[in-house]
Amino acid sequence: MQDLLGKHIVLGLTGGIACYKSAELCRLFVKAGATVQVVMTEAATQFMTPVTMQALSGRPVYVSQWDVREDNNMPHINLSREADAIVLAPCSADFIARLAEGRSDELLSLMCLARPIEQVPLLIAPAMNREMWAHPATQRNLQQVAADGATMLGVGSGWQACGETGDGRMLEPAQLLEDITAFFHAKLLVGQQVLVTAGPTFEALDPIRGITNHSSGKMGFAIARAAREAGAEVTLIAGPVHLPTPRGVRRIDVLSALEMLEAAEREAARASVFVATAAVADWRPASHSDQKIKKDGSGLPPVLNFVENPDILATVARSPRAASGALFCVGFAAESENLAAHAKAKRERKGIPLLVGNIGPLTFGQDDNSLLLVDADGVRELPRAPKLQLARELIAEIAARLPTRTSA
Ligand code: C5P
Repeated sequence: MQDLLGKHIVLGLTGGIACYKSAELCRLFVKAGATVQVVMTEAATQFMTPVTMQALSGRPVYVSQWDVREDNNMPHINLSREADAIVLAPCSADFIARLAEGRSDELLSLMCLARPIEQVPLLIAPAMNREMWAHPATQRNLQQVAADGATMLGVGSGWQACGETGDGRMLEPAQLLEDITAFFHAKLLVGQQVLVTAGPTFEALDPIRGITNHSSGKMGFAIARAAREAGAEVTLIAGPVHLPTPRGVRRIDVLSALEMLEAAEREAARASVFVATAAVADWRPASHSDQKIKKDGSGLPPVLNFVENPDILATVARSPRAASGALFCVGFAAESENLAAHAKAKRERKGIPLLVGNIGPLTFGQDDNSLLLVDADGVRELPRAPKLQLARELIAEIAARLPTRTSA
């Protein structure tokens, strides 16, 4: 998806081994539809050549404030005025110290100082050795730079090029892309706590086998990501799926419907929005064998008995907080035909304000889907599109339906 279409990003590289990741970051920006202008400090050119960055961005790189290519000889003004954001990745400890002091004796720091603070956000991806990161001087400088209006993108933890292990690694390019994409999204859900269930459940028969379904969890994970992009605090209760957790989302892994119910009821107690996308098994085995169920030589299969699982969505929707309007509940319905009629009936049966219908065989495992929104006022279709785009549209629809909160 071209999430950054129309955005112009000035990508600043400072001296650090993490520059090797900036080449990939530049490529991801371009793939996401952005135009990228690279600016490098002299130190950064020791780690990555401007030729590489020029080839990847499709634009000559700026390194010097005395660059004669600019008619007015003011690259620091011209470059910063065009940008939708300046992203410093990697941003070294030294460069953070320079920003904190407001220095401007080379092009990149000069450009950061010259940027119109209100119009051109400065996003910082630090990268350094763990001791440098933990040093009080660095932490003090980071606080100062944030107080001066920059946005900190955080650091990763793990093995470092110096051979030590700890905090201070630059985030991975894909993580930075996700965070920077989120940065540009309208903050429609600030102050909201969004709870999402996603994926299938697994109902164990014995320690080896169980009953599950083909739900991929993609829609629920996309909704969790979109809610986070919109500024909400997000908790994602996931059945057994192999999907990466969206950035900034708290994930709780569960297996069975009963575990999902327990987690959902606990977490719903402090949520303001509940979106149930999970494909919860309707039944679970009536008994669970502690040991593997063996063939007994008779040729007869074992007799399996089932009991109905609780309806997690309906249970949460019946809670006093949902009834009072403090918790807005959204359900999903996968149907095979007569979508509008089934969806309307299901919305009433579950006692929820908004139900999202989709055709099961057209969504399971797919990256695209189309949705039918059913509420008390009627029906609205969101036409076929990537699940992440639909999730963003759904989040906007949910935000528009939330009670407007009066500020204290
Ligand atoms: O009744 P049906 O399974 O079609 O309802 C689908 C909706 O109800 C989805 O939002 C699903 O997450 C939720 N559900 C649930 N607990 C169940 C069954 C369904 O939360 N046991």
